[in-house]
Amino acid sequence: MSMASSSPLDGSQGSVSYPMDCVFEGCKIPVYSTSTWSKQVANGVHPVDWTWAEVVSKRRVNNKWDFYVHYVNFNKRLDEWVCEDRLDLEQLQLPRKESKVSSLARNSRPSSPDVQTPPPPMPPPKKINGIGRKRKHESVEPESAEGSPSTPLPETPPVPHMTGSLHVPSGSRTGHGPEDVITRMKNINMVELGRFRMKPWYFSPYPQELTSEPVIYLCEFCLKYVKSMKCLERHKAKCTLYHPPGNEIYRKESISFFEIDGRKNKAYAQNLCLVAKMFLDHKTLYYDTDPFLFYVMTEYDEFGFHLVGYFSKEKESSEDYNVACILTLPPFQRKGYGKILIEFSYELSKLESKSGSPEKPLSDLGLLSYRSYWSQTILEILLNLDGQDDNPPSMTINEISEKTSIRKEDVVSTLQNMNLVQYYKGQYIICLTKEVLDRHSRSMVKRKIRIDSQCIKWNPKDWSKRGKW
Ligand code: ACO
Ligand code: ZN
Repeated sequence: MSMASSSPLDGSQGSVSYPMDCVFEGCKIPVYSTSTWSKQVANGVHPVDWTWAEVVSKRRVNNKWDFYVHYVNFNKRLDEWVCEDRLDLEQLQLPRKESKVSSLARNSRPSSPDVQTPPPPMPPPKKINGIGRKRKHESVEPESAEGSPSTPLPETPPVPHMTGSLHVPSGSRTGHGPEDVITRMKNINMVELGRFRMKPWYFSPYPQELTSEPVIYLCEFCLKYVKSMKCLERHKAKCTLYHPPGNEIYRKESISFFEIDGRKNKAYAQNLCLVAKMFLDHKTLYYDTDPFLFYVMTEYDEFGFHLVGYFSKEKESSEDYNVACILTLPPFQRKGYGKILIEFSYELSKLESKSGSPEKPLSDLGLLSYRSYWSQTILEILLNLDGQDDNPPSMTINEISEKTSIRKEDVVSTLQNMNLVQYYKGQYIICLTKEVLDRHSRSMVKRKIRIDSQCIKWNPKDWSKRGKW
């Protein structure tokens, strides 16, 4: 291992190196992380050649080991397979409970220790149907990749919906079961959807037979998945959709929103969740789409209404969540579409005369997007206030919440986060500095597309009064 000696993460004095066979699931080791490096550069972070990583799995390729690693303190979307040459064996840290093995291994250097286990087998279908919520309807098994609804694949878990409400914090997972290992690893290599090819960020429970394909192909309108271009062509010849199913409830210029009922359009809703899961990690898989509505945003051209992003929303939310999951497809990210989705979700809440909040936990990107939306929306309201006579303009937190449908707690946390709240002469006041105003006007320049509430054709439904969803 020539690279090992140059690792700057060297915390040990000795230069004893473990045999490669000692590296197994749960070990921590510095990895020469070329892809992290380039991604860090792209994100403006100072590049670090060696990064501590946890080994999630290993596999034998051409008589050498490949390791699936998770970079410590980095988002799981950067996880990847690396070849053994990229590991610094001198720094290997065995999992804590293996510390005895650790000292033994250093002394005896076994050539083929017990820890050399093959990758774990595929687990049986995960049975978490119906946890925590009464199901009104049975869930539907996913179609096979070939598209025959009547032949469910034995090794495929049921297609989930995602929600944060049943989220199991990662710390409370066992981290040792084969099932856990599999769902921690990206399983789809590449996905083609319409004009775009996307590299998934996380595991998504597509049929196992698709996971060995270099690329999987989705119909961009019904989101059906197939394993080859040929199958897609066959499907396209039959598929009549050129927009998502459901009602178009908004159109302005090329942007439309379709409302899809997870009960009425189950197959579409489930396919959408499979797509979303490739880019959403922190939501627990949830196996019933019936209690959810899906608001799908599209961009129109002469070939149809193309999927850009969506958010889902519970028909009845006991916590007044107005968004369960939200996603902008990667090719469209960082162009303002996430804010359009968020803005739309609050416009619906306004029509319901309710305040709402996104379901927790938020992802790192979700938090950034919501913080930015909340700050801009609240500042916009405050800047439109007029003072009277000598009195400075004033508005209560409740009034801000009523006007924006942003929940009071989110208003308060946003004001605190922006450092705008000050205690002055016995009361709290909001103090807008020139710096804040400049930053606000700069950020609003980027927000070119806005939701025009006049173009929403939608009436709220009281789902609690309906016999069934
Ligand atoms: N790095 C830094 N900032 C970012 C990034 C990023 N990669 N992505 C978004 N932001 C910030 C930007 O600062 C932007 O604010 P600004 O205009 O003040 O600069 C703000 O987020 C919103 O940017 P948009 O372009 O409007 O959002 P985008 O279309 O990229 O969508 C979203 C944001 C939906 C979170 C997207 O990143 C995504 O789909 N991520 C994967 C799925 C996910 O994490 N969803 C949220 C989960 S939480 C929940 O579901 C309730
Ligand atoms: Zn189709």
